[in-house]
Amino acid sequence: MKERLHELKEEVLEKISKATDLKHLNDVRVAYLGKKGPITEVLRGMGKLSPEERPIIGSLANEIRAKISEKLDAKKAELEELAVQKKLEEESIDITLPGRPVTLGCDHPLTKTIREIEDLFIGLGYEVAEGPEVETDYYNFEALNLPKNHPARDMQDSFYITEELLLRTHTSPVQARTMEKAKGRGPVKVICPGRVYRRDNDDATHSHQFMQIEGLVVDENIRMSDLKGTLNIFAKKIFGEDREIRLRPSFFPFTEPSVEMDISCKMCGGKGCNVCKGTGWIEILGAGMVHPNVLRMSGFDPEKYSGFAFGMGPERIAMLKYGIDDIRHFYTNDVRFLKQFAPVDL
Ligand code: PHE
Repeated sequence: MKERLHELKEEVLEKISKATDLKHLNDVRVAYLGKKGPITEVLRGMGKLSPEERPIIGSLANEIRAKISEKLDAKKAELEELAVQKKLEEESIDITLPGRPVTLGCDHPLTKTIREIEDLFIGLGYEVAEGPEVETDYYNFEALNLPKNHPARDMQDSFYITEELLLRTHTSPVQARTMEKAKGRGPVKVICPGRVYRRDNDDATHSHQFMQIEGLVVDENIRMSDLKGTLNIFAKKIFGEDREIRLRPSFFPFTEPSVEMDISCKMCGGKGCNVCKGTGWIEILGAGMVHPNVLRMSGFDPEKYSGFAFGMGPERIAMLKYGIDDIRHFYTNDVRFLKQFAPVDL
């Protein structure tokens, strides 16, 4: 029995020293020290031994078990250490390798222009309102004093989806939506940026899809002078303190009176050049006092309340501000064009 135990010991120690991974090592532990292992098997036969031999074999068996356990633990630690080393080697980083350049994006010039205008009006106490691009005929036209078959509907060739639904032709429907929400009580002070659509042929100054920013103020005692003052601040902040504004009479069904605003031409200082087509003035936006019918339809009492509204195209504003000669540049997104608006050299 003694020999058998020694044999087993040699056998296990050999296997332990040959184990190459933790799984393998654990298999050896289970096979030799487990309940069904050969050592336990040997000990089961102890009953047949003489009483003198029993304690000798018993302690030898315990000694051998302890030895095997010790070797297993040592080997386990060794294998674990090896695994860590291997992992470290595999994951080592070559810190001398030059990094890949990170390309920086920048805001689109239209986004920049819209934000700048938004910031200006937020500073004047306005809120930003939005409305859907797929609009009902009611909000796009009727609520703006443009009943069905009104000739002024031709001013804005529309993309109809159904009889009653269309892609909005301007941001003015947000005026009606905002007033409805206010439930007949002022003050209302909003600007509404967004996309609009018209059945135009695309060229250097037209696009079937473009942006507008609408402005609307409704309260008691709002007068034309408030509109003029607001537009004057806007023009000077966006185009420069040296710019003059001029209001010309115009027509929109939803404002009365209606005006168009021009700013003095920066190129020629008002003398006349090809940018301003010889007039010294450049048209910027449409505006006017909110028509009583529009106030009434959206739940405001025109006897008590009055208001002004304006609508402008940020593309046109960005084109004039940055000297861009073709509206299509905004949509074709050539990076050579876009990069010029980056805050740093890209
Ligand atoms: N909605 C008009 C347009 O698209 C612009 C406008 C807005 C005019 C508000 C007056 C008041 O042409």
